[in-house]
Parts: sequence; structure tokens; C-alpha cells
Amino acid sequence: MKVLEIIPSGDACGAEVRGVDLGEGLKDVVFDEIDAAFNKHSVIVLRNQSITPEQHIDLSDRLGGIVPHTFSEFCHPDYPQIFRISNLIEDGKPLGYEKAGVTWHTDQSYIETPPRCTTMFALEVPEKEGKSFGDTLFASTVAAYNALSDDMKIRLRGLKAVHQFAARKRRLGRESELSEAQKLLNPDVVHPVVRTHPFTGRKCIYVLEGECTGIVGMDDAEALPLIKELSDHIIRPEFIYRHKWRQGDLIIWDNCALQHRAESDYELPLRRHMHRTSVNGTSTF
Ligand code: SIN
Repeated sequence: MKVLEIIPSGDACGAEVRGVDLGEGLKDVVFDEIDAAFNKHSVIVLRNQSITPEQHIDLSDRLGGIVPHTFSEFCHPDYPQIFRISNLIEDGKPLGYEKAGVTWHTDQSYIETPPRCTTMFALEVPEKEGKSFGDTLFASTVAAYNALSDDMKIRLRGLKAVHQFAARKRRLGRESELSEAQKLLNPDVVHPVVRTHPFTGRKCIYVLEGECTGIVGMDDAEALPLIKELSDHIIRPEFIYRHKWRQGDLIIWDNCALQHRAESDYELPLRRHMHRTSVNGTSTF
């Protein structure tokens, strides 16, 4: 018998999962239902949660274990597994990385084994006059792949794209923040242009304009327009779910089946403060 209620968003991805209180602990049977709903809907939302950092870390461990973040200065001082996304300032210093992910992307595609998923817990959400700000948008790379023409699916077969860490930071205008050590720790990596999802077997488009610097064995004159065409295709409105945050939301999103971006439409005194973890993935294929 199923314990949880799953309410699909009605969009190409996304569902709300009801009937779970993460603060009470998580029985295996409940975790298995959450995991199944996550694989099916790619991004799931658990509302009204009240969790400690330990419970957040425990959930992430059960999903696959935590990937350390490249920008350790924004990690929680007592729980370095948790990365803080925040516009708050404490003692004159930013409490977290402000406005992370404001361009369409998938997390850490610039590493060999990109994270399976990301979890984010909303401690503070910017609100004014009954309206919330700082939404996160998710685009289904599965729906985008399925909508490609047969000719395009054949053209993409076997192609591999180059993903570059410095290009990601350049795109965000933050390349100057990178130390030489960070660049050396993050050499270019290659992933299939069409990935097979390691849990569902579904095909997902896996390229990002501005972060993929080329396609192996293809001239840039052909590769860069192809990367742009695919990147524009993924974010067509029919593939998108927009999440409007509420305090206490815990979201898990899939980094193979989705791309995402954060809306940057708020400023202090409107406060946004999130705890985020990245969960280990597999090699890409
Ligand atoms: C991210 O891209 O990891 C952050 C998304 C957000 O802040 O909504």
C-alpha cells in the first residue's frame, strides 16, 4: 500500500509529495516512495518541512551521498556538506553565494561524474505584498529530447560535448573569482550530448550554450550553432515547471533529466536563504 500522495504539477516535470514529515525521520518504505516519485517526475517538492542540518545531510546521504562543493567559502561553517545560497550579510560578509544559477544550467556538468541530484531547503523566501520572488524554473531535458525530430535524434547519436568550468564562471561574469588552483582542479570534461538517465533509462539532452565549448571531432562552426539550437530548444515554455518557493519547502531536482535557473528579481531587504546539498552521480553514458 502506498503511504504518500503524489500530485503532478501538470507541466512537463514536477510533483508535490504529500504525507511526509522529514523532521520525524524517514522509514525505508517512505524513502523508497520518495525516490520513485523523484525518478518519475524529476523535481519533487515537499512542503512545510522543518529539518535540522543533520536531517538534511541524512536525506542526501540516502539519495547517494554528498558531493563537496567547489566554492567551500560558502559552505555552512558547522556542516561543510551544506552549501548556502543566500543574500544575507553577517558581520559584513556574505552568508552564502548570492544569486547562484541565474542562467540555465545543470549542476556541475564540468565534473566527470556530475551530481545525480540537488536538494534545497528554503529557510527564508523573499516576499512582498503577498507575492514571493526568487522562483526556480526547471526545464525537462527528457521532454525536450522526445520532441526532437527523428533526423536530429540520428544526428546527435554518439556525439560528445566538452564542458568547461571556467566557461561556466565566465558566463556568470565570475571568472575573475577563480583561483589557478580551482582551474587546475577542474580540467575540461566530455559528456554525451544525449545522456541515458542512469535510473530510468530515458534519453536526456545534456548541453549548455556558453558552458560547452565544443563537440568532439566537429568544427566549431558547426558545433557551436548546434549547441545553441539544442540549448534554446530545451527551454521552450512547454518543457518548463516554475517553482514558487515557500518557507519550509524541500526540493529535490534531477541534474540529468532537467536544467534549471533561478529568477533574480529581489534585493535586500527581501531575504532569500537556502541550504543546498549536491548528491553523488554516476559516470555519464
Ligand atoms: C542553483 O542553481 O543551484 C540555485 C537555484 C536557486 O537558487 O534557485
